[in-house]
Amino acid sequence: MDLGLKDKVALVTGGSSGIGFATAGLLLGEGAKVAICARGEERLQTALLQLQAEYVEAEVIAQPCDVLDEKQVAALVETVTGRWGGVDILINNAGRGRQTTFMETTDAAWREELNLKFFSLIYPIRAVYPSMKERGGGRIINVNAVLSRQPEPHMVATSSARSGVLNLTKSLSTEFAPDNILVNSINIGTVKSGQWKARFEKYSQGGGTMTEEEWLHSEAAKRGIPLGRVGEPEEVAHAIVFLASAGASYITGASLDVAGGTGRYV
Ligand SMILES: NC(=O)c1ccc[n+]([C@@H]2O[C@H](COP(=O)([O-])OP(=O)(O)OC[C@H]3O[C@@H](n4cnc5c(N)ncnc54)[C@H](OP(=O)(O)O)[C@@H]3O)[C@@H](O)[C@H]2O)c1
Repeated sequence: MDLGLKDKVALVTGGSSGIGFATAGLLLGEGAKVAICARGEERLQTALLQLQAEYVEAEVIAQPCDVLDEKQVAALVETVTGRWGGVDILINNAGRGRQTTFMETTDAAWREELNLKFFSLIYPIRAVYPSMKERGGGRIINVNAVLSRQPEPHMVATSSARSGVLNLTKSLSTEFAPDNILVNSINIGTVKSGQWKARFEKYSQGGGTMTEEEWLHSEAAKRGIPLGRVGEPEEVAHAIVFLASAGASYITGASLDVAGGTGRYV
């Protein structure tokens, strides 16, 4: 099936690892031109080399960028626009979660979390909007979490911020509809990626004896994931690519759960 992504220009934030990296690969496989960014230069460079090796004909660039720094985001979008003329697809994926209860969360942690969840979207969206509008439309896909609709007590700051992002996505879908810029989000459950690798390492260093696979299965059971396993980054990436594709031309303001059945809401 032709997804209509050939020669489209896509910007994937947090593209050096996990879901962002998998999404960049699928987009390149569909013939899109892809820019990835992240803060860590070494991991970003490794990701770039891996993508170039796998998609030999493809056009891909990588630029270090902290999405919480508006100047760096503007410079990144300038690079992409200079190279390919504009941006058609923005995947707001950069970020991480914070595991704290309400009583453990300091003021500084609250500010940091709200800043991360909102400004990691606000700066890239503000930077790409003019070029999307000029090109007659575009797609913005925000990587969110089931927590946005089903809060976890031990992730109180992240859950609260994610609800706000769901609301922001809906607001933007209405505001940008006249420009044919479609704005959607993906609600992730538990996905095997960089964050999980780090948690497994912590578990092992703390004396844990399970293998990574056993530990992931036990985490899935603890979380009551109906499909009984943690998701793969590619399983999220496929949903993102669908929302970026020509086939999703009448979908805006939606949030799609890619969570193995985790969300217990109707
Ligand atoms: N995996 C899950 O179970 C899960 C669940 C719910 C939501 N999510 C969300 O899904 C998204 C992707 O996460 P992942 O699971 O694929 O994690 P990951 O493998 O840790 O990837 C995160 C990516 O974001 C980048 N990043 C983080 N902060 C950044 C910043 N300020 N500016 C630019 N890049 C930044 C990281 O690179 P650098 O650190 O080098 O910058 C990395 O490339 C995140 O927003 C995460 O919160 C994941």
